[in-house]
Amino acid sequence: MNLAGKVALVTGSSQGIGQAIVLRLAQAGANVVINYRSHPEGAEETLAKVEAFGGNCHMAQCHQSHGYTLKADLGSVEEVRQLITESIEHFGKLDILVNNAGIEKHAPFWEVTEADYDAVMNVNLKGVFFATQSFVQHLIATQRTGKIINISSVHEELPFPNFTAYCVSKGGMKMLTRNLAVELGALGITINNVAPGAIETPINTKLLNDPEKLGALLQNIPLGRLGKPQDVASLVAFLASADADYITGSTFFVDGGLLWNYQEQ
Ligand code: BGC
Repeated sequence: MNLAGKVALVTGSSQGIGQAIVLRLAQAGANVVINYRSHPEGAEETLAKVEAFGGNCHMAQCHQSHGYTLKADLGSVEEVRQLITESIEHFGKLDILVNNAGIEKHAPFWEVTEADYDAVMNVNLKGVFFATQSFVQHLIATQRTGKIINISSVHEELPFPNFTAYCVSKGGMKMLTRNLAVELGALGITINNVAPGAIETPINTKLLNDPEKLGALLQNIPLGRLGKPQDVASLVAFLASADADYITGSTFFVDGGLLWNYQEQ
């Protein structure tokens, strides 16, 4: 996979899946914008790893990639637009947008507050909508094609009790992708969802520290383990590459078989 000469923005890439995606895209030669909201140290760590690829690269087929960190809260449309503008200003253009930033809040449906509902929907859906819009406006203005990859979840399909706002946001992301595949197809812009299952990342810290819950979850995963951020990143790199030029409007699950393993208790 060769992404040399491409510029990618990965939202929420100071940790977890986003960080792994940045590293995988950089490894393939892309220049990468690392976005963070509250972990500048994580963004700096990601950046250092990106720059190290260049430093460690002695083979002719290696491409020097560069990173750049930008702070923005994906829950604010103003900051989202600023993020896209500053990314383009820094690297001169954008070719790949990975909408990765996402949050979840645990509560029974009847106790969900308006503030928590707004926080989840603003980051997971509204931010994605307007980041994608700004990216598409840039592609149209520069008359170029591009690739959009959304990090969704198995919960764009699968119910997740006590996480209703999260499921609503991911279900919305599913329809955003289907709709835009049709609307953006004529522009040569592709859009796809990568839907992780249970991955070892900070969003799952509580689960990882609860042996009983973790054991029950592992029983439901046919491949018998949680996923690693790298399991997700390799698929994103493929979808961002020219090898995936004919793929649009689809969701790809990276879940060890979790989605199809409903078992009556
Ligand atoms: C959620 C995790 C959950 C996983 C599997 C993800 O979308 O963020 O909290 O463990 O789905 O249910």
